[in-house]
Amino acid sequence: MQDHYLLGRSSRELVRLERQAALIEAETEALFRRAGIGRGDSVLEIGSGAGDVAMLLGRLVGPAGAVLGVERAADSAALAAARIAAVGDLAVQIEVADLNTFVPTKRFDALVGRFILPYLEDPVGTLARLIGHVRPGGAIAFMEFDVRQIGSAPEVPLLSEIGRWIVGAYEYRGVAPGLGSSLGATFRAAGLPWPELAAFQKSSCGPGGIIWYFEQLVRTLAPEIVAAGLATEAEIAAALRDGRLEAEGIARGATFYGPRWVSGWTHVPSG
Ligand SMILES: C[S@@+](CC[C@H](N)C(=O)[O-])C[C@H]1O[C@@H](n2cnc3c(N)ncnc32)[C@H](O)[C@@H]1O
Repeated sequence: MQDHYLLGRSSRELVRLERQAALIEAETEALFRRAGIGRGDSVLEIGSGAGDVAMLLGRLVGPAGAVLGVERAADSAALAAARIAAVGDLAVQIEVADLNTFVPTKRFDALVGRFILPYLEDPVGTLARLIGHVRPGGAIAFMEFDVRQIGSAPEVPLLSEIGRWIVGAYEYRGVAPGLGSSLGATFRAAGLPWPELAAFQKSSCGPGGIIWYFEQLVRTLAPEIVAAGLATEAEIAAALRDGRLEAEGIARGATFYGPRWVSGWTHVPSG
């Protein structure tokens, strides 16, 4: 079977996921609270990665609740389980399984995920199948990306180029780079009511800020960028060398914008 998860399973990618998780923890928690997830709930969390979403949910549902995280990559699942164990008192389990075929054995109060739907072979079909394991009235909450929105004002040509590489790398592997912007339609196609939505873009100007985000994403996508013929390894290395992106941004007085991240939440119809 083709591996649709193009970001790879390297330790560099797991470190990137943890840093990204810290950047958007507040928005992720806000999504789950808006969806009504709280103490005592049982939650199915799909595509756990390094476990950041599962741990956040564990804190929200407390000891009377339960979180089951599903992750295909065994090394990511092992890291997530170790981090959860290190916290000590979280009612969170991680299961190694492929969501393209995973069938839950129990019913949940909520189904959630962050940055997972575009990687699935059939996002709508999988969502529809898993919704069948959420109780009537239960919460459905997802946060997904649109990397086509990466950019700056005024334009910084190097960031525009990097943005094209990132979008092209996703497209090369058949991963929709803009699913976040059609999250509402994705929910509807899976048989859910129209969700409520909240979109945000992390941004920064001057030194530091979110420049690390672009650089780390390009590093983890470099094999796909090269394989897709978007840039050579030498061109990627030159783009990332010596704080070039930061210098070009400062020279233009530019504000950098990260991907559009879209939160969507709704509830399974009651009857
Ligand atoms: C971009 S990461 C997001 C991780 C985490 N949700 C977060 O926000 O930090 C996507 C994760 O989904 C997992 N994944 C991708 N396809 C999957 C599948 N078919 N079944 C289970 N997990 C999958 C990947 O291994 C990866 O850990």
